[in-house]
Amino acid sequence: EKSRIGVTGLAVMGANLARNMARRGFPVAVHNRTTSKTQEFMKDFGDEGPFTGSESLQEFVDALETPRTIVVMVKAGPPVDAVIDELAPLLDKGDIIIDAGNSHFPDTDRRAAYCQERGLRFMGVGVSGGEEGALLGPSIMPGGDPEAYAEVEEILTAIAAVVDDTPCCTHVGPGGAGHYVKMVHNGIEYADIQLIAEAYDLLTHVAGLSAPEIGKIFEQWNTGDLESFLIEITGKVLAKTDEKTGAPLVDVIVDQAEQKGTGRWTAIDALDLGVPLTGITEAVFARTLSSLRDERRAASTTLAGPTPGSGSNRDDLVEDIRQALYASKVVAYAQGFAQMRAASQQNDWNLDLGAMATIWRGGCIIRAQFLNRIRDAYAEHPDLDNLLMVPYFTQAVADAQDAWRRVVATATAQGVAIPAFSSSLSYYDGYRRERGPANLIQGLRDFFGAHTYRRTDSDGTFHTRWAQDGSEVSTG
Ligand code: 6PG
Repeated sequence: EKSRIGVTGLAVMGANLARNMARRGFPVAVHNRTTSKTQEFMKDFGDEGPFTGSESLQEFVDALETPRTIVVMVKAGPPVDAVIDELAPLLDKGDIIIDAGNSHFPDTDRRAAYCQERGLRFMGVGVSGGEEGALLGPSIMPGGDPEAYAEVEEILTAIAAVVDDTPCCTHVGPGGAGHYVKMVHNGIEYADIQLIAEAYDLLTHVAGLSAPEIGKIFEQWNTGDLESFLIEITGKVLAKTDEKTGAPLVDVIVDQAEQKGTGRWTAIDALDLGVPLTGITEAVFARTLSSLRDERRAASTTLAGPTPGSGSNRDDLVEDIRQALYASKVVAYAQGFAQMRAASQQNDWNLDLGAMATIWRGGCIIRAQFLNRIRDAYAEHPDLDNLLMVPYFTQAVADAQDAWRRVVATATAQGVAIPAFSSSLSYYDGYRRERGPANLIQGLRDFFGAHTYRRTDSDGTFHTRWAQDGSEVSTG
């Protein structure tokens, strides 16, 4: 009997996706470039469900029902192209290749075109939820040919997480749209994590609390507006004691954050689209700053910080930090959703942003209570420009803003870096200003480069002859 679907690439994500499918009864053919890995997989998990282990790609392809559906789960970048190149000659017209890794969306568009020329169908599918999600139910963001999706929908929705009877999987859009949405998901993940790190920094260095004490605070926070997977696991990570030293584990972890690219891509894309994406972008820069460990060490003994102040009541401070975290989080999501809206318009993707919030409610790394609110917001206003403008979020930020401002002020006074808290607040203050200071930017650009400006009181563009008689001329 032939397998319904194949998975090639049996590192932990691929292995767990294959196991998830087989556990739900779908016969799965598995393959890995290094055959010992396939053998190991069959030995460890072969009895969990209907698996066929294949030693060669040809064997793998032959093990599949036609039209074939093959999930490729290899490292993003050239390895994906290598697998497609090896597979393509072995496949028949109409077969479907699914790239379920964290590929960059322009690569997905390119690969879809490449496969189409060869009569194959290609889908770029975002999968979030880490190892456990892949095994027990991830959030799935499929992009590509809708007809190909219709053929794999049964499997993908069966293995996805489920919230309120709704699977966390929906067709996102054509081409690279699925990987695009996954990219923004990861960007938001970066912002969420950065905000949590800043809150932890303040609780450590301003409130003077220990890691386990802060862990308890996060546990507490996870029962309110902030309830989410990342807040929950922050409590667990902070509570962990190092087996070797007996100190909190976080205290012995090197403070250099690594990254594999998705956050950086989100920030670059926002720059390309012209969308202000300060929270996520600051989060990427904060990781790059963290990597300058030697420079920071030198600077820490050279560059002076402020004189320590008296500090406020600790409980008030903790509550203020919670509110600042929540408000900054709202801003990060507002920015990320505004970016997806802009990309959708630019690429004619017709993204259903409410559906994106819906499939992120479970399974993925940024799953959180408040995604329900985002879903509701788009249900009511599908063409919403900015999430901050719906009453629920308008009110949430209004309620939190005094605390948010106190935290930013305190952190600044005490010399604790809070790039995401403070840039989110600046975005909020910039966004709510009817008239900002960019008039002066235009004046300066006109002065040194005759770049022209528009007037508040008449149409057209103008230039002032700064270097001549100072008179204004209309330029169009
Ligand atoms: C997920 C995660 C996953 C991965 C990130 C980590 O949704 O399950 O986002 O895709 O953990 O890519 O990214 P960095 O290594 O760049 O932090």
